[in-house]
This record gives sequence, structure tokens and C-alpha cells, in this order.
Amino acid sequence: MATMGAMQAKDKEVFIVQGLAGEKSLSGTVHINGSKNAALPAFAAALLFKHPVRLSNIPTIEDIARVSELLEGIGATVEKGKKDEYTVTAPSDTKPELNKDISKRLRASVIFTGPLLARYGEVQFPHPGGCVIGPRPIDLFLSAYEAMGARSYLSGETYVLSAPEGLHGAEIFFKNQSVTATEALLMAAVLAEGTTTLHNVALEPEVTSVAEFLREGGACIEGIGSTTLTITGGGVLTKEKPHYHCIPDRIESGSFLILGALSAESLILHDMNPDHIRSLITLLQESGVDLEIEKNSLRVKNGRPSRSYRAVNVKTHEYPGFPTDLQAPLLTYLTQVSGESFIFETVFENRLNYTEDLIRMGANIKVFNPHQAIVTGPTPLKGRDLESPDIRAGLAFLIAAIVASGSSIVHNVYYIDRGYERIEERLGPLGVSIRREHLPT
Ligand code: UD1
Repeated sequence: MATMGAMQAKDKEVFIVQGLAGEKSLSGTVHINGSKNAALPAFAAALLFKHPVRLSNIPTIEDIARVSELLEGIGATVEKGKKDEYTVTAPSDTKPELNKDISKRLRASVIFTGPLLARYGEVQFPHPGGCVIGPRPIDLFLSAYEAMGARSYLSGETYVLSAPEGLHGAEIFFKNQSVTATEALLMAAVLAEGTTTLHNVALEPEVTSVAEFLREGGACIEGIGSTTLTITGGGVLTKEKPHYHCIPDRIESGSFLILGALSAESLILHDMNPDHIRSLITLLQESGVDLEIEKNSLRVKNGRPSRSYRAVNVKTHEYPGFPTDLQAPLLTYLTQVSGESFIFETVFENRLNYTEDLIRMGANIKVFNPHQAIVTGPTPLKGRDLESPDIRAGLAFLIAAIVASGSSIVHNVYYIDRGYERIEERLGPLGVSIRREHLPT
């Protein structure tokens, strides 16, 4: 199992990328891995089961190593099986205190608060960290747990939540559709006494996938796939040999698709679900990208210069709208197409900062405020030293570096490794010149 030390060592790694100077010379096929954002709540869901839970199609990424450590820290057993499989066994009893260092760097740690509070009657954790893309409050979680009978207070930097008598059902209306709040409260409600109704829940495929897994495991959940979930709690799930097979990562699919549109003669994405990225597919087709769409695969074929693509306006939105996690890769694409594109980030408060680095590479981007920008293209990009500010912008920087002329050094590789498995080993065979190096200390 990886350690916190590995996490710090990775802070010193960089990717060195030799750009293609706008040429469309990449070609090949890419297998799309299991979804990070579905795998993380599935690991947390294992805490609702009596028996060991087998998880398959799990990507080998840093965030999975971190949640494995979080689970081991509270006494769970995490066994790595063959290739992409894990088995997680919940402890029968524990004092659930989430590791501070990990929780402060991993927003998804907050998902674990739901099953831990509901199963063990208590949970302690610091304010969850993660990518610097906005304030990322946890008010939705705290007020919902309180409505279900928990008491909460802040002791120094630590939130302490307790419900010694167990949680009870409640009517909860989320003022925002939140992915992780929906997942955490759904899991808490599965173990609570009575019926819980969650209104205005997130509809992201990762939420639906984990809800279906819990239902197959014996949980009584109605409304999956709609904005209202009704859960009748029934205690720990007793299904024998529960198994969760992770859905494909739609953000990874979308990022490779954008890379293909910019730099491939032909790129085939396998083992993915085009239905999960309809919003991106529609925008790219409107922009002029040639796509062949099958049930579980997608081919970008063109070979045309990107400047013959048209500008498109983008507004990020909760699913099935355009995902905020593809905003940075798409904006990078828009620097290479003809015309003015308007970008409107509606989900997070601080997700356009990375544009400063694209501007240093030569992009023409006017940022009006933390939510709105106009990109005018096409502009050739030049290789630069780039600091990944978060997982998704990190991948956008790799795409920009591949399209640019000259070489780029992408720092903060840990962010990219958090979400994408051995990205350099998957880009290399397509024709990308990329290598990982350790900076001298
Ligand atoms: C999840 C994804 C992340 C994605 C995001 C939006 C995981 C592990 N991460 O993050 O990749 O970018 O959904 O699709 O699945 N909010 C509140 N109060 C809260 C919680 C959230 O106001 O208590 C707000 C947030 O500030 C944000 C909005 O709700 O403006 C949506 O965020 P949310 O869906 O919660 O994002 P995450 O679940 O953290």
C-alpha cells in the first residue's frame, strides 16, 4: 500500500513533454479505466456491509491509495487482489477518526463521514481538503446529519459528530445538488432507523452507480436516477459476496476525446460509455469534430487542422449538463479553434485560475471574473513550465503541452496521479513524447 511519504515524494516529480506544434500525428487506441469518482464512494459503501466487499475495475491512482489508508486507519481491512480488484472488510467495531493529513488533502474523505457516523455512532475529521477550486464547504453534510439526529461540534480543527443512539430518518432538501453530500447521506440513510427522503440530489452517473450497488446489496432505495431518493433504513447490509464493478471514468474519456480532437489522425476510446459524456460530444460535434460513436467506444477521426473547428460556448452544470471537471480540458481545446468562445463556470468559485498559465503559453483568454471568460482562437501555444493547480487542470496542461511547440515541464504531478493511472504510459504509445522525472531535492 502506498504511504503519505509516497505522496510527498511525488510532489517532486515532473512530466517533460515535447509538443507536436499543432500537428495531428497521434493515433491508436486507449482503454478507459474505472471511474475515480465512482470508486471512492464504493470504498466508503463497503462500510455498510457485514461481509467483505469485492470491488473491480478500480483504477490504480493515488486517491485510491489514500482512501485505502483512510480505511485501514479506522480498522478496516483492504486487500489488493489481481490487477484492478480490491476487497474491503469493515471493522465490527472502531473509533472512527479519519487520518488528518489524508483528509486535509482529499475532499472525497468527507464521503466516509456518512457510513461511519451511521454504523459506529461517531466520526471525527478535519475540514476536508482537495483541489483548490473554491471554498468547498460542508454545510450540507452537517445540517443533514443534524436533521437525522446527530450532534456536531468543532474541537479545535476537528469536527466531532456523534449519534450514540443511531441516526433516524428525516426529510432533507439540499440547497445545491452536491455529489459527495448525496452519496454520504444516502449511505447514512441506509443504516438509519426509518425513512429518509433526500430532495434535490445529484444525478451524476457515479451517484447512480453506487446507489444501484447498495440496492443490489439489499438496501431499500427508491427514485434512483431522479432528483428525489427515498431510503428506508434497515441496518447493516447482509448480502453474501457483495461485488461492485466500477463504471468507466467519463472525465478520463472526455479528456482523451479532447486530446484526440486536437492532435490525432485517429483515436479510439474503448471500454467507455458515450452516454455519460453526451454534453461534451454535442459541443464537439457542433464545433465540427468528426466522431464515430458505438455503444461502448468512440472514435475521433479527422486529420484536419484544428483551426477549421468552430468556437462554441460552454456553461458548466450539474449532470447531465457539461461537467465542471471537463471545463479546463475543453477551454484548452477552444484556444486552438476559430472564433470567440464564452466560458461560464457555474459549479465552483475558483476554477479559472489555471488560465494564467495557458495565457503564458500564448492563448488569448480574457477572464472577466472567477466564473466567466472569453477564449479567442486559434493561437499557437509555446511550451512552458506549468504548475498543475488541481487534478483536472493538470490534465488540461498535459493536453496544452502536447499541442504546443517546444517542450513543457508540468509540475505537481501528484495531482495528475491522483486521478489518472500511469498517464505517461498510456500517452506514449499514441505518439506523445512524455517522460516522468524526479527533480533533485
Ligand atoms: C464532486 C466530484 C468532483 C466534481 C464535483 C462537481 C467526487 C469525489 N468529486 O465533488 O470531481 O468536480 O462533484 O461535479 O465525486 N456545496 C456546498 N455545501 C456543501 C457541499 C457542496 O455549498 O456542503 C457546493 C460546492 O461548493 C459546489 C457545489 O455544491 O459549489 C457542488 O459541489 P459538489 O457536488 O459537492 O462537489 P464534490 O461532491 O465535492
